[in-house]
Amino acid sequence: MKVPQSTPKPIRKAVFPVAGLGTRFLPATKAIPKEMLPVIDRPLIQYAVDEAREAGIDQLIFVTGRGKTAIVEHFDTAYELEHTMSGRGKNLEVLDPTRIQPGNLVTVRQQVPMGLGHAIWCARAVVGDEPFAIFLPDEMMVGTPGCMKQMVDAYNEVGGNLISVLEVPESEVSSYGVIAPGAKVSEQLTEVRGLVEKPKREDAPSNLIISGRYILQPEVMRTLEGQSAGAGGEIQLTDAMAKMIGTQPFHAVKFAGRRFDCGSKTGFVEATLSLALERDDLADEVRAVMTRLLAQ
Ligand code: G1P
Repeated sequence: MKVPQSTPKPIRKAVFPVAGLGTRFLPATKAIPKEMLPVIDRPLIQYAVDEAREAGIDQLIFVTGRGKTAIVEHFDTAYELEHTMSGRGKNLEVLDPTRIQPGNLVTVRQQVPMGLGHAIWCARAVVGDEPFAIFLPDEMMVGTPGCMKQMVDAYNEVGGNLISVLEVPESEVSSYGVIAPGAKVSEQLTEVRGLVEKPKREDAPSNLIISGRYILQPEVMRTLEGQSAGAGGEIQLTDAMAKMIGTQPFHAVKFAGRRFDCGSKTGFVEATLSLALERDDLADEVRAVMTRLLAQ
């Protein structure tokens, strides 16, 4: 294992690829970005941003496309709303998570959907020459501490590149990026020997999949430059990362917590119910509703 000689450069920037069309949730996502679909009372993107901030990351880079302005509006000051609410004596605290320090939200455009690798590459000028995090907001990671905080803690130990992974049934590996695990560093941390995007079940090197959180070194941007299309005809981030293995430390962090695949309808419903059952203001009523429905 390559251990950094000194404390690695801090992770200050996070890239959120949010240009996707969200076709799986049509017609809900015809006029609303899928990242704005709420799990109870927060849009999906808010959960990812909260997770970033908990990990000490406050510079947010959204890779957006047409029809995605609601995401940026969400993190802007809604002057009329605040004015009206204050006038009525209402508490504005509920809006606190939507507040961003001036200058800390940057958007770049991905004009044509060409894959996750391409989306990340679109942020290269804003990322510059620093390590950065990536969040796929569809993947909702719930834990204490959150997934990215767990990753940043591991990064401070080993530096280099890290991805969060989790086990899925073998029948599901072909929907994801899959790792070939190397030496185990600790219960939670493993070296990564190889990476393959959406392998056939029989070709998958393990059942450990990349679960939508990354800490990467800026060299990945140069690797993505001019990269040809991979699985699904798209420019894959996984392919670029695979090329970096061996040139820089590369580790996988097994997230201690729960993951909800909010890119699927069932995952979305599961996230909603699960979070509702944990909230003091909702748990009793929601449990009663569920019991009643299950008895039908
Ligand atoms: C992307 C990544 C894949 C990862 C997955 C997690 O795939 O390319 O490696 O496992 O997210 O959700 P997508 O879901 O965009 O096809």
